This record gives sequence, C-alpha cells and structure tokens, in this order.
Amino acid sequence: MTERGAFDTDVVTMTRFVMEEGRKAKGTGELTTLLNSLCTAVKAISCAVRKAGIANLYGIAGSTNVTGDQVKKLDILSNDLVINMLKSSFTSCVLVSEENEKAIIIEPERRGKYIVCFDPLDGSSNIDCLVSIGTIFAIYRKATDDEPCEEDALQPGRNLVAAGYALYGSATMMVICTGQGVNCFMLDPSIGEFILVHRNVSIKKRGKIYSLNEGYARYFEPAVTEYLQKKKFPQDGTEPYAARYIGSMVADVHRTLMYGGIFLYPGNMKSPSGKLRLLYECNPMAYIMEHAGGMASTGLQDILDIQPRSIHDRAPVAMGSTEDVLEYVAICEKHRKK
Ligand code: F6P
Repeated sequence: MTERGAFDTDVVTMTRFVMEEGRKAKGTGELTTLLNSLCTAVKAISCAVRKAGIANLYGIAGSTNVTGDQVKKLDILSNDLVINMLKSSFTSCVLVSEENEKAIIIEPERRGKYIVCFDPLDGSSNIDCLVSIGTIFAIYRKATDDEPCEEDALQPGRNLVAAGYALYGSATMMVICTGQGVNCFMLDPSIGEFILVHRNVSIKKRGKIYSLNEGYARYFEPAVTEYLQKKKFPQDGTEPYAARYIGSMVADVHRTLMYGGIFLYPGNMKSPSGKLRLLYECNPMAYIMEHAGGMASTGLQDILDIQPRSIHDRAPVAMGSTEDVLEYVAICEKHRKK
C-alpha cells in the first residue's frame, strides 16, 4: 500500500518507459512516437476482441450488423487499425502486413525512417472459439536513402531496431524490446494504459514443456521425431516433458517465455519451410527470445541470420530455453551429416 492508499501514483506506463529509453539513447523521438501509435492500435484491437461477440465481429467479412453497417472481420479491422495508426504517426515509410500481398509504401508527406512488418491478428483459427490471439510487430530502420520500396523490408532479423507482441489472453499484455531487455506491460482497462509488470524478463535455461502440432507426426523429419522421442522417453533418468500447444503463436511463445521450454513449428515433408512467416512471426519472436537470454533456430541456422528473399517467406522454427533449443539443434546437425 502506498501513502495514498491502494493507488500507485507513480506507475510506469509503456509510454513513459519508451520515452525514458529514447531519452537515454539520445534518440529523435521517432521510435517513441511509432511505438505509441502501435500501442493505440493494440488498445483498439483489444477492445474489439473483447466485445467481438456483442459487436458481431466474428465470422466472415462482409456481414451486416444490426444497424445495417458493413461489419469487418476482426483481422481486417485489426489490419486497418495498425496501418492507419502507423501512417498517421509520420514515422514509417514501408509497411509489410500478413494481410496484404504487397508491401504498403507510405505517401511522401507522411513518411518516416522506419519499416514495420506485422501480423495484425495472429492465430486466426482461434478467433471464433475465444482462444487467445495476438498482434506481432518487427521494426527496422530504412537502410538506404533511395525511394522506399518492398526490398527495404528484406533485412535479416539481426538488423531489428525493436520488436514485440500483444497478447489478447485472460488479460491484454504487450511485450516489447527496443534492444535492451524484454519488458512486459499489462493493460489496465480502467485507465487505458499499459503498466510495466515484468522488467528485464529472462527465460529459464531449460524448461519442462515442448510445444508443437504433433498431429503432423506422419510428415515430420527424422530429427523432429528423434527429439520428441527423447522428450517423451528420456534415457537419462529425468522426467518426460509436458506437452502444451494452443495453436496461436503469440500465446505459445509467451508461455514459453514465461515458463521455459521449447516451441517448434518445424518444416515437414509437405512444407519444408514449415508454416510461420519469417518477417512478422519468426523474426520478432526470435528477437524477443534472444534478448531474454533464449534462442531461436531453424535447427541449422539462427533465425535472425536468415536473409529473406520475399516478404512472405516462411521459416522452420524452434525457439525458447537455450539448452532445449541447443539439444534440438544438435539432433538436426547429426541428421544433416548422415
Ligand atoms: O500463422 C498462424 C498460426 O495461427 C500461428 O499463430 C500458429 O502458431 C500456427 O498458425 C498454428 O498452425 P497449425 O494449425 O498448423 O498448428
């Protein structure tokens, strides 16, 4: 309890935190403005997610609500929100969205120096059944002075300036990293602000949970099968791992960050690069994991070192506690040499 009763009169909001970090880094304030605009989009998406049932936002785009207005599906609404907030922040020049086939090049009058790749509402198969979903974003600086174009977004994750995600779970949380540490902010709906709740999160060196869609076991590469066998029937006297899989990347990755363990979406015989997209799913999550002391790999290469060839590239991924990911990588290396 503080001097003023149950009220903390000096809370660290996300805006305050990002502004302070910007000050320390002697920045221009452009990244702070960008992150604030994303924060506004996330608050609006969170609000839409929470009242989706009542507001008729589930299901197919194009249906009509009680007042006769066209109702946008949640993922389209989320995409529009992120795009509009970013455009009106005057901080970015190229946007890559999971929902848009081509990169969006911002009109000259509203341009800034950043490139933002995002998945406005990830975990779409979970929307209609009320399971956690999320927004993921990755921020790069434009590397040249040339006219902005799609190729500007084709940078390896090592170049990231900042990345993060919002999780619309039992509460709404934003997890961000601007290069120094991973910090978590919980939305306090009563004041409409994200409040710092975990500073400098660090992931366990080893966890007790593995997470992947085991329904595809028939198509797994031998390395994945061998790794899972080891987790289920350990030969070294340790206990078997627990299995958890939500099927929403943000929720599965956030649990991995909090509890430790490994999250995998490996390549398989049907889709050798897996399913998850490099620019706005794998890279931002890999950046968060590395900055929290964990790892993210394809099995043969660090995710952040991949040079993207096109904006919707996919990559096989294993991320989480360093010892767990290294154990998986060792098995992948062994199979590569066979
Ligand atoms: O890419 C979208 C997504 O919903 C991710 O959030 C999630 O990790 C994955 O797909 C689930 O895919 P699957 O249904 O193949 O397990």
